[in-house]
Amino acid sequence: MAEENIRIVREQDLDRCFEIESVSYAGDEAATRDKILKRINTYPEGFIVLEIDGQIAGFINSGATHKVELSSEEFKELVGHDPGGKHVVILSVVVHPAFQGKGMASKLMNNFIDRMRTLGKSDIYLICQTELIDMYAKFGFTSLGVSESDHGGLSWNEMSLSLEET
Ligand SMILES: CC(C)(COP(=O)(O)OP(=O)(O)OC[C@H]1O[C@@H](n2cnc3c(N)ncnc32)[C@H](O)[C@@H]1OP(=O)(O)O)[C@@H](O)C(=O)NCCC(=O)NCCS
Repeated sequence: MAEENIRIVREQDLDRCFEIESVSYAGDEAATRDKILKRINTYPEGFIVLEIDGQIAGFINSGATHKVELSSEEFKELVGHDPGGKHVVILSVVVHPAFQGKGMASKLMNNFIDRMRTLGKSDIYLICQTELIDMYAKFGFTSLGVSESDHGGLSWNEMSLSLEET
């Protein structure tokens, strides 16, 4: 059986993460190599990779902030990021096409949510396209409505998940 492992990113994962980002996201949506490197170096605690038999199949990266501005393009370069910020903003959730439809995003997301709760974060935010609202709802995210972001020339929905005990 294939061996799966989820761990924090390392700088040597850059090329594979960029490859996955480039083949999985359409056109302008994909982060550049420099942006991914910045995310690795700036907030590794918020950047996890899922390996299958030692090869990265997908990843989630993010930033933390005291003030959430989901339509900010600058935040994608982690301008305004503070590791002590209570709010986490997911920047990419991505699985290589060869591994899609096998539950990998679910494993990454559940692991990410647990890690952020352990780090004492209060909530997780993201923007997604309409067809993925149901997917994120499965992890407990609720829709906040249409985003002002026009990232990649597309229209986006905002979603959030509270990590605080009710
Ligand atoms: C979206 C993406 C991360 C899903 O990864 P995946 O590993 O194939 O997802 P999973 O197999 O874990 O599926 C999790 C659930 O979401 C659903 N789902 C997955 N992709 C979906 C899609 N494109 N549309 C609607 N539902 C989807 C699955 O049916 C599954 O539901 P289930 O638990 O009831 O079976 C992957 O398709 C991807 O990398 N796409 C390109 C990048 C992207 O768009 N990322 C999202 C940015 S907001």
